[in-house]
Amino acid sequence: MENNSVLQAIHSRRSIRKYKDKALSQEQIKALLDAALISPSAMNRQPWHITVLTNKSIILEWEKEIVQYFVDTKNEKMVEHNKARGNKIFYDAPVVFVISMEDGKGIDVGIMAQSIALAAKGMGIDSVILGLPRVSFDPKYEGKWYKTLKFPENHVYGISVAVGYGDEPGRQREIDMSKVSYVD
Ligand SMILES: Cc1cc2nc3c(=O)[nH]c(=O)nc-3n(C[C@H](O)[C@H](O)[C@H](O)COP(=O)(O)O)c2cc1C
Repeated sequence: MENNSVLQAIHSRRSIRKYKDKALSQEQIKALLDAALISPSAMNRQPWHITVLTNKSIILEWEKEIVQYFVDTKNEKMVEHNKARGNKIFYDAPVVFVISMEDGKGIDVGIMAQSIALAAKGMGIDSVILGLPRVSFDPKYEGKWYKTLKFPENHVYGISVAVGYGDEPGRQREIDMSKVSYVD
């Protein structure tokens, strides 16, 4: 099993929350997009759209608004959580794949996110899957981020995957077999 590169990618992938200031090439981005777009989806409906975000100032502006959302809504737990992570949401990753979807298609885009994360790992690139940015699609922002991120009509936020060259090992994980039952 040790020589199986898919298993290696699955087991060595960790959420990385610190990135080097090193861009990805267009070829690397295209390879990750291809891996994403070949993902399975129910009845092959492909109910998704990917926005490739590399503009640092837009990423930082979005990050600031997400952090502020939790302050404005007095969500103390999340304010502390964000503070502990240096108020970083995208962790200075050079590329963020923002996946929007037809409402209710979370399973399809979740699988797509994992395709990106595993393809990246196989290419020596790290990633972190991001649910938190969903707060920017609160009606109070009047559709600003739908427009900026070029979501197709009737799409909602699905998930994002930030990718880049990691600058930390990620945390250790243990396999939890208590989550498994056998029926013989
Ligand atoms: C649907 C989903 C949403 C997530 N959202 C965030 C997020 O907004 N911010 C973050 O830092 N990590 C996020 N994560 C990463 C998880 O915290 C991480 O996968 C989990 O702690 C296990 O650690 P590992 O990925 O290093 O194995 C998310 C993961 C998933 C699957």
